[in-house]
Amino acid sequence: MSCYIENLGDHTDQEVTIRGWVYNKRSSGKIKFLLLRDGTGLVQCVLVKGETPDEVLEAFGNLTQESSLKVTGVPRVEKRAPGGYEMSVSKLEIVQIAEEYPITPKEHGVDFLMNHRHLWLRSSQQHAIMRVRNEIVMAIRQYFYENGFVLVDTPILTGSVGESGQTLFATKYFDLGQAYLAQTGQLYAEAGAMAFGKVYCFGPTFRAEKSKTRRHLTEFWMMEPEVAFNDSDDNMDLQEDLICYVVRWVLEKSRPDLETLERDISKLEQVVKPFPRVSYDEAVKKLQEVGESDIQYGADFGGDDETILTKMYDRPIMVYDYPRAVKAFYMKQHPERDDLVRCNDMLAPEGYGEIIGGSQREEDPEKLIQRIKEEKLPLEAYGWYLDLRKFGSVPHAGFGLGLERTVAWICGIHHIREAVPFARTMGRLNP
Ligand code: 4AD
Ligand code: MG
Repeated sequence: MSCYIENLGDHTDQEVTIRGWVYNKRSSGKIKFLLLRDGTGLVQCVLVKGETPDEVLEAFGNLTQESSLKVTGVPRVEKRAPGGYEMSVSKLEIVQIAEEYPITPKEHGVDFLMNHRHLWLRSSQQHAIMRVRNEIVMAIRQYFYENGFVLVDTPILTGSVGESGQTLFATKYFDLGQAYLAQTGQLYAEAGAMAFGKVYCFGPTFRAEKSKTRRHLTEFWMMEPEVAFNDSDDNMDLQEDLICYVVRWVLEKSRPDLETLERDISKLEQVVKPFPRVSYDEAVKKLQEVGESDIQYGADFGGDDETILTKMYDRPIMVYDYPRAVKAFYMKQHPERDDLVRCNDMLAPEGYGEIIGGSQREEDPEKLIQRIKEEKLPLEAYGWYLDLRKFGSVPHAGFGLGLERTVAWICGIHHIREAVPFARTMGRLNP
């Protein structure tokens, strides 16, 4: 009977077959160890001269790193072995002898590893990151399901600019002119909110960002809820609640993977409500006080400013009410300060910075038209969006959570390129 390594505990002292790949092998005198991985875990197989059948010992001799095989034996608990089980081998069937594997236990440069990303995914750290990513996605979907949100999938090929004209990927679209790859699903999620009350979309988004930072991809996944009748404060409450839920979920489900990543778990345990809320005005003052940043009032924060700011707190913070001039056209004008908009960013601690951008939306059609014109966006492409302000316009708010930045923060990894299976950046389209 074949089984997965993660289920070995259900099959101790009975014969099973594991199908997988050679992670490592070594010999010490009469005993030979074969570390096998099958995607769900690692198990140590033991071969002993004199006890193990000769043909198995011979096959062992031919195995190279990442050769594929089927191993039959009886698993037993062995606390000292990686994965906690050990298996004596009675049968070993080779599926393929692998060619010399390019990734070895010695150090490789990041560029080499990224060029071999299709293989690098098999390494224990990368494997752990992807499993945490899987749990984060499950947590987000479960959170919205439990809270009565409807999933509304939004298009990737679009005719209007969602965020800003500067970072668009365009492609020719038959006789209809230019199509753009979606920078956000938000505008469509707003239509969804007017139909269903609370919705979210979750899909890939695209930005032709000419930034080579540890926080920028050209293709990333974004989860965007939108709620009718929510204002900016409700919006921040929702963000806080979601992030606490996701972190709790990961702490519960992903401990072994977080340990593989040597993540400081105590830092994640501090992620509890309430998150400090700091106005843009206060944030600039704080940055100017510590003197490490050259931020001028009115400017958007750079990555370094966010790093300095988040290091002042032990949990995520929410910076709200930014200057209108540095934010997107759809954000609601502040009722008392017409230089500000009712928006917020959530900045993750430990220097990670922005993981969420959100806002209350402008519901006044006249103000919205004025902003579209100011941003020199083609008004005719926004007819359908302006309709939402004509037929029962209500206050509403939403936000976008960047999945890869969230994964990078929760896993404690330095660069966002390792938070996605196959990263797309300015300099990478392959593999
Ligand atoms: O702040 P952003 O640009 O907000 C929006 O797109 C809104 N339309 C969302 C909304 O209100 N529905 O992006 C939201 C989040 C950022 O906080 C960040 O986590 C992530 O998306 N993000 C990126 N992640 C990786 N690479 C990039 N180039 C990113 N740009 C934004
Ligand atoms: Mg933003």
